Amino acid sequence: MQLHGTCKMRLRSCFCVAVSRFFFNGLVDFGGNRPSIKARFMLYSLARPALFSLDPEAAHDIALNSLSTVSKSRFATKQLERATGAGVPDLPVTCMGINFRHPVGLAAGLDKDARAFPALSALGFSGVEMGTVTPKPQPGNEKPRMFRLVEDQAIINRMGFNSGGVDAFLANITKDDRTGVAGINVGKNADTPIERAASDYVNALQRVYSQADYITANISSPNTKSLRDLQNANFLDNLLLDIKQAQLKCEKVHGYYVPIALKVAPDLAEDEIETIAELVISHKFDALIATNTTIERPESLKSTQKHQAGGLSGAPVKEMSTKCIREFYRHLNGEVQIIGVGGIKTADDAWEKLVAGADYLQIYSQFIYEGPSMIKNIVNGLLSKVNQGGFASLSEAISAARN
Ligand SMILES: Cc1cc2nc3c(=O)[nH]c(=O)nc-3n(C[C@H](O)[C@H](O)[C@H](O)COP(=O)(O)O)c2cc1C
Repeated sequence: MQLHGTCKMRLRSCFCVAVSRFFFNGLVDFGGNRPSIKARFMLYSLARPALFSLDPEAAHDIALNSLSTVSKSRFATKQLERATGAGVPDLPVTCMGINFRHPVGLAAGLDKDARAFPALSALGFSGVEMGTVTPKPQPGNEKPRMFRLVEDQAIINRMGFNSGGVDAFLANITKDDRTGVAGINVGKNADTPIERAASDYVNALQRVYSQADYITANISSPNTKSLRDLQNANFLDNLLLDIKQAQLKCEKVHGYYVPIALKVAPDLAEDEIETIAELVISHKFDALIATNTTIERPESLKSTQKHQAGGLSGAPVKEMSTKCIREFYRHLNGEVQIIGVGGIKTADDAWEKLVAGADYLQIYSQFIYEGPSMIKNIVNGLLSKVNQGGFASLSEAISAARN
């Protein structure tokens, strides 16, 4: 029997919702009764070994392909949202003038080509940062280039901004009927000399402006030669000037303002933090994202993969990133907001970053280990802190804790 086209599409979408939920939530049935939280965890622990038996990048590609297929169908996206994201409570926060439903977003790097924005939002993130996208397509570094450090709850990656380039990125995303907040993270191509880096950032920013709720300039990946040199004052002053001018030009052309954030590494010395803080204030950036991955290898690492070259993320970067946020908060004087990222797993980790100075949060590595149930757990935990303290909002609770 020939299946009708729409029916076939829906069956395919249902299959992908199931696969997405299997990978991201550990659940294989998505109709009827919702399994208990305990059952979800049991199923997730069954699903994880299958997923983790694959090469990390292959597992990532399978999961992202499923989410990409889900994203193409409103019906499937709605199913995924009802089954997963709808369970995350509201806990509103404002950052860069954007109202987020709750403070937990997805950090850059998982969806570099904007292939799965609707499905990733449906999983429960209040914002999804796509990219890093570069002006031209480029393959990134040689494989293997992503490594799980399971014993350390960490990841090392040296992807090297593999991306289809900004044209392909834009072909994948449309602003129509979008529900979540879309961040777009831009970077420079590997073959652009560092002295001409600004032209790549300006070019990418101008191209993505109309599709972004905010734009991030990523100058802190350790996997593109010399990129982190852009954090030095002699490069940074001119770079931030060029990016700011491009943003203001775009504001005139499009008639609305899209905020801009700068993403930094956790490996900065105190005097570097002070200088960067002064520059983001003077160039009127809207936010600072702290932090990217680290090139440090803490003594505590146990995994045999710990000597792989690249950026380390997850649990071992948590303290470094929080310390960095605390330092930036001290120097930014509330003039530029902070997005905190690095090793967040629990509500207590999230709370620590918020009290240290973050106004909004992002996660990546622990999401790979825990699945989307962690979004709900973190937001619920933060909500309990707000309610227990008798505060009217999360920002009120944070202000009280910071004083
Ligand atoms: C596999 C992988 C790829 C990443 N790619 C990017 C990227 O393209 N751009 C970027 O700004 N950050 C990238 N990151 C860094 C994350 O966005 C985040 O800043 C960092 O991993 C720390 O957060 P976490 O400990 O929650 O993972 C990547 C991280 C991982 C693990």
